Amino acid sequence: MKPLHVLHVVGARPNFMKIAPILHAAERSPALHSTLVHTGQHYDERMARLFFEELDIPRPHVDLEVGSASHAQQTALILARFEPVLLERHPDLVLVVGDVNSTLACSLCAAKLDIPVAHVEAGLRSFDRTMPEEINRLVTDAVADLLFVSEPSGLAHLKQEGVPDAKVHFVGNVMIDTLRAHLPRAKATGAVSRHGLQPGQYAVLTLHRPSNVDDPEALARVLEPILELARHMPVLFPVHPRTRERLARSGLSSPGLRTVEPLGYLEFLGLLADARLALTDSGGIQEETTVLGVPCITLRENTERPVTVTHGTNVLAGTDPGRIRAAIGAALEAPREAKEPPPKWDGRAAERIVQVLEGFSAPAARWESRGSPTSSR
Ligand code: UD1
Repeated sequence: MKPLHVLHVVGARPNFMKIAPILHAAERSPALHSTLVHTGQHYDERMARLFFEELDIPRPHVDLEVGSASHAQQTALILARFEPVLLERHPDLVLVVGDVNSTLACSLCAAKLDIPVAHVEAGLRSFDRTMPEEINRLVTDAVADLLFVSEPSGLAHLKQEGVPDAKVHFVGNVMIDTLRAHLPRAKATGAVSRHGLQPGQYAVLTLHRPSNVDDPEALARVLEPILELARHMPVLFPVHPRTRERLARSGLSSPGLRTVEPLGYLEFLGLLADARLALTDSGGIQEETTVLGVPCITLRENTERPVTVTHGTNVLAGTDPGRIRAAIGAALEAPREAKEPPPKWDGRAAERIVQVLEGFSAPAARWESRGSPTSSR
């Protein structure tokens, strides 16, 4: 039987650690044939290339090189450049991960060409439509044919939205597959001592959400209690490109706030694993700290990953300085306790995805019957 041709898409930094275990598991399956497309949404050495090397992601067959732009322009450019790739390569299925603009654009493009879409990390909802990622999640799930769910809340949301059960597969968390596979190497990088830090005696901070960093007043408010913390313990802050300029303009600094360039996967994971505390507005770090048992203070009013609060170490502190200050105090006082990881965060999510893909039958002879690429559906 002809293998199922799966075209995998990556675009931005949080996609790389999600696609790596899926590609590796797919490579081992004779029933699947994989193509990798990188949209180029992230393109820097530190935001993209380093991750390919460290996670052993094969060189993409196609790089759309879209780069940075406004949401509409970036999404439109991906749509325009991805369509000819689909028409040329005729995949049986397009697999997208996460919730970035590349996820939305490529799933929309495939759905318009009647190519089945698989969405990894389906069903997550923050219920905050001012977050660009929430729009990306809703649209991607609406057009997806296979919805791979990472935590129980995703199952409940998709049911509420009327997605048929047959499309939904609770497989677990591929980001945690990557964490489990790389943790020993990450610890062996010696990053903690290289940064002049002592295990358990420093905090790690990341901030890049537009709602926290784009407005100087919002940035100052969220940083106020963190600058206070930095007087007592070093706060390592790898600064996302979006945040870099805003932070420089704000003039906010403290000797204890150690700003560094964005870090590679292994170095960052090594530092996170030994931190006393993480402060973040990232989605992925809420999940990683859950498994590492590191207290996490989320600098957002909501989370699309509630299992990190119910099963993990995550506390939603919002963006009010008083609440953040209180959350930091509580986290520093509380003893660290080992918890069971959320269901199916066991390092085998990619294997489960591949099993489902192996059983997926693509609609027959689609390309032959469609006619010219410009014909309407
Ligand atoms: C994107 C994702 C976000 C994800 C984040 C992780 C969307 C809507 N957002 O946000 O969900 O959490 O990636 O990093 O898709 N830049 C560089 N080098 C790069 C890439 C970007 O310098 O390689 C700079 C550019 O100035 C750009 C800015 O970062 O304007 C923002 O990049 P963009 O891809 O628009 O969004 P992110 O904030 O990175």
